[in-house]
Amino acid sequence: MSINKSVDFSLVNIGLLVTNDAELGEGPLGLIENAALSVVNGKIAWVGNSSSVDKSLPTVEAYGKCVIPGFVDSHSHLIFAGDRSTEFAARMAGVPYSAGGIKVTTAATRSATADQLKVNAARLIAEMQESGTTTIEIKSGYGLDVVTEERSVKVAAELTSEVTYLGAHVIAPEYSSEPDTYVDLVCGEMLQACQPHSKWIDVFCDRGAFTVEQTRKILKAGISAGLKPRVHLNQLEQGEGIQMAVELDCASADHLTFLTDQDIALLANSQTVAGLVPACDFSTRSAQYPRARDLLDAGAAVALSPDCNPGSSYTTNMPFSIALAVREMHMTVDEALYAATKGGAKALRRSDVGQLSVGSNADFVLLNAPTYVHFAYRPGVPLISKTWKDGNVVFTKGASS
Ligand code: NIG
Ligand code: FE
Repeated sequence: MSINKSVDFSLVNIGLLVTNDAELGEGPLGLIENAALSVVNGKIAWVGNSSSVDKSLPTVEAYGKCVIPGFVDSHSHLIFAGDRSTEFAARMAGVPYSAGGIKVTTAATRSATADQLKVNAARLIAEMQESGTTTIEIKSGYGLDVVTEERSVKVAAELTSEVTYLGAHVIAPEYSSEPDTYVDLVCGEMLQACQPHSKWIDVFCDRGAFTVEQTRKILKAGISAGLKPRVHLNQLEQGEGIQMAVELDCASADHLTFLTDQDIALLANSQTVAGLVPACDFSTRSAQYPRARDLLDAGAAVALSPDCNPGSSYTTNMPFSIALAVREMHMTVDEALYAATKGGAKALRRSDVGQLSVGSNADFVLLNAPTYVHFAYRPGVPLISKTWKDGNVVFTKGASS
């Protein structure tokens, strides 16, 4: 993603600033009241009390409202074409969700040009910025052939540095009778084509997708090729993959709608972040939400993401995910905000985003609210006034685009 040169400035008169740096303020969110921050060269240069701000820089008013770090979305499937609203309506009328719907999007994605895929993804990124997200991981996974997977990761790489090769989303339709041949393709020619444009490798390990053994093989092939692993696990049924995810040091294991006590203990004693996607559980009308409370109480790191994709969760909205996390997964509002910012950064193994310390990327969001509690207290209300990324304004409420 190209970074335009930002203008240096100070944001002043912040009623409540979330830094996510416990050394800068109160509690794990590092809260500072009556705060200000300064931005120099796209980085946070200073954070403190509004009365001590550097008066030589141009100032921008926060009008006493709340400022948070930009959301870090560590799980999205933005490279696709087509629409599955008919499938969604049928699901709400009683048809259960299955991984097989991915193939509908695959047909549309294969016939789309790189330009069409990029325009669609850019539209969704604009939505994300409008709802406060500033760092985005983007997966391939709707090509399922060498040419379209390569096209997908190339398009993703034009939009983010966090590109994930997900050739192993489901078995490609033309390999349905020989799944292991498809696994070999994913580990061989397709990996070779996608690796130069990717940072991560991911597998959908679940009913109707890949087994734990196939997943292990694919992730190990990716690791040998220089990619870092992450994994979709236990969305549709209780699987056996957590041990494997931890052994391979996956940066995150995502979905986790089904977990045993032992799975939770394994995650809590690992560097693997639990990437929870409650908007997906909502949109698939899952029988249950993940056990976020138990994960947090055991000491596991948790990230939140909307899991934007055209099938199981067609929303880009992190505030909606926070509201669900609080209402349905019994996370406190503080825990949910932390998971949507610093938790996402941990899931991407990034220390330059998800917090507002000196030296962090100047990615932050001005709310039209006195506190971030409003994300859960006022569900569905658009509360973002302005979003900055690398010190540049990328969204202003009410501005025509
Ligand atoms: O994260 N779980 C696997 N992949 C997507 C859904 C894909 C689809 O249904 O198109 C997800 O939910
Ligand atoms: Fe996903």
